[in-house]
Amino acid sequence: MERIIFILAAIIPSMGFGQNPLFVPDPLSGKSFSLSLQNGQVEFYPGFNTHTIGYNQDILGPTLILEKGSNITFNVTNNLSEQTTLHWHGLHVPAADDGSPHTIIEPGQLWSPSFTILDKSATYWYHPHLHEQTEEQVTRGAAGFIIVRDDEEAQLILPRTYGVDDFPIAVQTRAFDANKEFLWNTTEDDIVMCNGTLDPVLDVPAQVIRLRLLNGSTQRVYNLGFEDDLIFFQIATDGGLLNAPVSLKRLRLAPGERAEVLLDLSTHQGQSFSFMSFASELPNGIYGASNPSGHGSSGMMAGSISGYNNNSLNGNDFKIMQFQVSASTANPIFTIPSTLTSNTPYAEPSANNTREFYFQSPHMGPQGMLNGPFAINGQLFNLNVINHEIPLNNIEIWELVNMTAISHPFHIHDVQFYILDINGNPPPANMQGRKDVVLVPPMFGTVRFITKFEDFADENAPYMYHCHMLNHEDGGMMGQFVVVGTTTSTTKGGENSILIYPNPVANLVHVQGLPNSTIRLQNLSGQLLEERVSLGNEEQFNLAEFASGIYYFNIRNAEQNFTYKVIKYD
Ligand code: C2O
Ligand code: CU
Ligand code: CU
Repeated sequence: MERIIFILAAIIPSMGFGQNPLFVPDPLSGKSFSLSLQNGQVEFYPGFNTHTIGYNQDILGPTLILEKGSNITFNVTNNLSEQTTLHWHGLHVPAADDGSPHTIIEPGQLWSPSFTILDKSATYWYHPHLHEQTEEQVTRGAAGFIIVRDDEEAQLILPRTYGVDDFPIAVQTRAFDANKEFLWNTTEDDIVMCNGTLDPVLDVPAQVIRLRLLNGSTQRVYNLGFEDDLIFFQIATDGGLLNAPVSLKRLRLAPGERAEVLLDLSTHQGQSFSFMSFASELPNGIYGASNPSGHGSSGMMAGSISGYNNNSLNGNDFKIMQFQVSASTANPIFTIPSTLTSNTPYAEPSANNTREFYFQSPHMGPQGMLNGPFAINGQLFNLNVINHEIPLNNIEIWELVNMTAISHPFHIHDVQFYILDINGNPPPANMQGRKDVVLVPPMFGTVRFITKFEDFADENAPYMYHCHMLNHEDGGMMGQFVVVGTTTSTTKGGENSILIYPNPVANLVHVQGLPNSTIRLQNLSGQLLEERVSLGNEEQFNLAEFASGIYYFNIRNAEQNFTYKVIKYD
């Protein structure tokens, strides 16, 4: 598939002369996924082979389609001659499986994490997270989409035929050198790519279509919209559906953020229109505006990032891609649903459970406030320092205070959060869903969010939080926390080797059974809900979809037979 597109890209001179069909990565589904990070080459410009990296292909990677509740095994092979890691951005997984900077995959090595998908239906992504090399590896091409499907979303009337009425679109700006090799650690990112395609065009049917938008850029914030201010409907944030579609003309998307939107093209057959970033409308203080500094555009306090203002995309409206509307497909969708889900943000804890995070530059003055390096609470990232210990099941408010001149997209691993306020105001309707990235305004801007640290505790494996401007992250604007299991109770069997925890449990219960045993999960009335054969290794059972109440695990082998009670809560 990608071969054909790249051959076309080679034949048709790009950049203003012709348009290249948008590359739509192949979908992969199932319970076991193989990803191989490898070197590649793409002829973006005729006569120039740009060196790239990608998963199973020259650039980017397949779209992983995951079912909520299923147990998945990944086989990730590093076929580069340098280290890497692979992080599942937005997924709620055990810290040891999260692909953090600690979980290095050496050249030639295989990494095989395995976990249960607990996340809600939404669009996530994967990318390397190697210490100080994230920007470089992502820029060279290492990234891919993850689509999680669940029963709730499946009940809704929504476009969901991948590549037909449901399309992933990763927007990235890149810079090339004179030999058409990628540059990183630069402000010259003036070439727009979607899914690794230059000057892309996509054929779409005249009906309601769904776009899964990802800002996969190193630094740039987009102010997305369509030609003629075509209205679109945002239906999902980073980690789940919104309560109801939110109608929009513009959507600001910061690095790392995702949004799913619906576009009703039923009356647009035969038309062609552009998808744009209206960057001229971005307020100063954002990478992508005419001035990235929130200090203002003139006078003593004005600041600029060196090389930034020569970039033709900054502060100017520009095209991201082109859509061409053809006939509708069989079984088209012509409606926008009126409701989607019901998000229930956590209740604010009565105890003072607020953690504060100050973004500061150790270098004082306007230039330091804009150019970094940026520290969080006065500390640059140190692989050997755990910045926070968080008790399992804690509900916490994180208060982010940005003492710098530029906005930073803050991202946290392990959890999704709900934004409580931005500069003291409640978030707009399209930001009231589950999120894992939030853009924190400049010049003493604040964001407060609330979240809960559930399911996974491991005092030896940290999760990251960081700025998703990848050069800021690599420069040390990152910290790490461990979730510690002080509030878990463990059910230990009469036979010492049996462990069941946590108990009570909200989602995932870990069961360490007996060698060569059968584990049966039953409800109060004895009905069999799940049965597994276990060699004695830890098994994970997902109770998320079950009603609260009492359940039993029966564990038996040829010699022994035990039953334990587990309490499930919501
Ligand atoms: Cu998208 Cu810590 O990363
Ligand atoms: Cu992440
Ligand atoms: Cu930043």
